[in-house]
Amino acid sequence: MIDRATIDRIMDAADIVQVITDYGVTLRKRGVNYVGLCPFHNERTPSFSVSPAKALCKCFSCGKGGNVVHFVMEYENISYPEALRVLARKYGIEIDEREQTDEERQAENEREAMFVANTYARDYFVKTLHDTSEGIALGMAYFRQRGFRDDTIRKFQLGYCTESHDDFARTATAKGYSRDVLVKTGLCIAHDDGRLTDRFRGRVMFPVHTMSGKVVAFGGRVLKTDAKTAKYQNSPESDIYHKSRELYGLYFAKRAIQAADRCYLVEGYTDVIQMHQSGIENVVASSGTSLTLGQIALVRRLTYNITVLYDGDSAGIKASLRGIDLLLEEGMNVKVVLLPDGEDPDSFARTHTTAQLRDYITAHEADFIRFKADILLRGTDDDPAKKATAIDSIVASIALIREPIKRSIYIKETAGRMAMSEELLNDAVNKKIRITAETIRKQKAYAEAGADGDNTRATPHEDTHQTPADSRDTLQEIERLITQMVVRYAAQTVTTLHDDEDGTDTTVRTAEYVSWDLDNDDMHFASPLHRRILDEAMQHIDDEGFDSAHYFVTHPDADISQFASDALSERYRLSRYHTRFQTVPTDIERLGRIIPQLMMDYKNEIVRERMERLLKQLQDPAVMADTTRCNDIMQQYKQLKEVQKAIGKELGERIILPN
Ligand code: CTP
Ligand code: MN
Repeated sequence: MIDRATIDRIMDAADIVQVITDYGVTLRKRGVNYVGLCPFHNERTPSFSVSPAKALCKCFSCGKGGNVVHFVMEYENISYPEALRVLARKYGIEIDEREQTDEERQAENEREAMFVANTYARDYFVKTLHDTSEGIALGMAYFRQRGFRDDTIRKFQLGYCTESHDDFARTATAKGYSRDVLVKTGLCIAHDDGRLTDRFRGRVMFPVHTMSGKVVAFGGRVLKTDAKTAKYQNSPESDIYHKSRELYGLYFAKRAIQAADRCYLVEGYTDVIQMHQSGIENVVASSGTSLTLGQIALVRRLTYNITVLYDGDSAGIKASLRGIDLLLEEGMNVKVVLLPDGEDPDSFARTHTTAQLRDYITAHEADFIRFKADILLRGTDDDPAKKATAIDSIVASIALIREPIKRSIYIKETAGRMAMSEELLNDAVNKKIRITAETIRKQKAYAEAGADGDNTRATPHEDTHQTPADSRDTLQEIERLITQMVVRYAAQTVTTLHDDEDGTDTTVRTAEYVSWDLDNDDMHFASPLHRRILDEAMQHIDDEGFDSAHYFVTHPDADISQFASDALSERYRLSRYHTRFQTVPTDIERLGRIIPQLMMDYKNEIVRERMERLLKQLQDPAVMADTTRCNDIMQQYKQLKEVQKAIGKELGERIILPN
């Protein structure tokens, strides 16, 4: 861990405007701040704002930003310590790492060693491919026969691992690479008898890069496909490689994706490479598995538009539809291209000119939902049950689209294809959207009636959209707001308590108020991050000149520092919450009202959540059948309701959080 004093020095030295400008972002002065086009998403009007005074940056469109270190982290896709090192190097600051614990140093060194070993392995495999007779005769021959040009082979750093079972293992060990690291990266396999052999022997090698170009893994393909050996061997998951968080080709594609504002998604290594060679460079591969949230997040930093290219005979299309629903859910615009029978992007790109490939894509680019409808409805005409299932699944996809206008366009379009009236489809979609909220409302009504023994009573909560997930979000949001206040004003006085017995006054500061109030009710924050911040604030609150904002922003823990930077730049969110206190000018003057309010809101929300959980239990048939348990739950519910009433009285008027 880099010590606090060094972080301080780095942050003091690094001029945020200069750093961001040096990364190629053009900033224009507007008032006291600078604005520019956000480097983290595609936009035409600038919403990226940099405040030299606060040393913070923030995109008001995509929300990315933080202090100068966070900017470098985000831009280079590197860790917090790595970003600190980049800046330290830039500003000639020596890093004193003595404070790092042995364990931390070891973990970091180990990861670093794994990257170094992978880089060495990549170079070794590249050299073997180009400079050895076996590499040229087998590896190069294979790539050339597949139609890869030499410059393409160089660009993707393709390589070859010899057929000898331990060529690489022996050379690497002789070079001083530790057995442990070679095994952890998966480059080598350790055997019980002590032998160390090559995982990838006799395979052509595809290095897998992170977005910033580090080699985290390899895919190795056999030269002759037969049933006995797996076509691909891949590096195992490790401390540096999480398959679900990488996309093959992203490093080579990122600029092109941004430029085209679109990303093509294919299945495999060879598809990516062949399309690149044809001049279409905004393409990545999920490596044969369905997309994960982590992978979608990577793409979404570059574009919201994604086109999935499907093999002409892909048996897995139906299975992959689910993964695409995930894309919709994440707000991506999804298109689909189905290649001709028997073709995959690799073969199609190889046998067609760039113009033909582009034309084919343009001509066959179909909307995902239309595509899904075609696939699912195919051959269901004589099977009403199958057709109903298909329609239900299509309706579910449409319901995932958040923008109402877009949704209604889809409904209009799809209705025709499904031979269904627009109104009917519209109803079905709306029903799908509302179904959760509706269920909850009914449960509430039922349990309210049960608890009060009065069937005619209306539900007290009018907010039928409040699902349990929402309420958990609200709870988290309040917790976050409270923690933000702790970050900003840990040592500021909230209130003064007067002790009647000895006549003394005790000031209660923000961190203390929050901490004591929680303790009183035997509660603690749900988020470990929030808990840590509060704990540390309490530890340091009596330090001479303790400046909590500065303390947390320069915190050695990346998460804490990011949270603190967000807290400081998210004033606008706080002020939305605070609009009801408009008459009071500053946060500090408002602390005495805001903090107690927030704490009350927090508790109120917790009670509400508990009540909701009880109601849910009441819906369980097993519970319903058990009168004693039922009564017990209703009893608890009634007690919570009392608590809620008490809180309500104290709150006066309940604060409703802005959405
Ligand atoms: N894959 C894998 N292990 C396998 C098969 C496939 O990891 N046994 C992954 C690879 O990332 C591969 C992708 O799934 O690139 C797509 O598989 P496939 O289409 O079979 O491979 P291609 O890349 O098309 O390879 P080739 O054209 O050489 O058969
Ligand atoms: Mn293929």
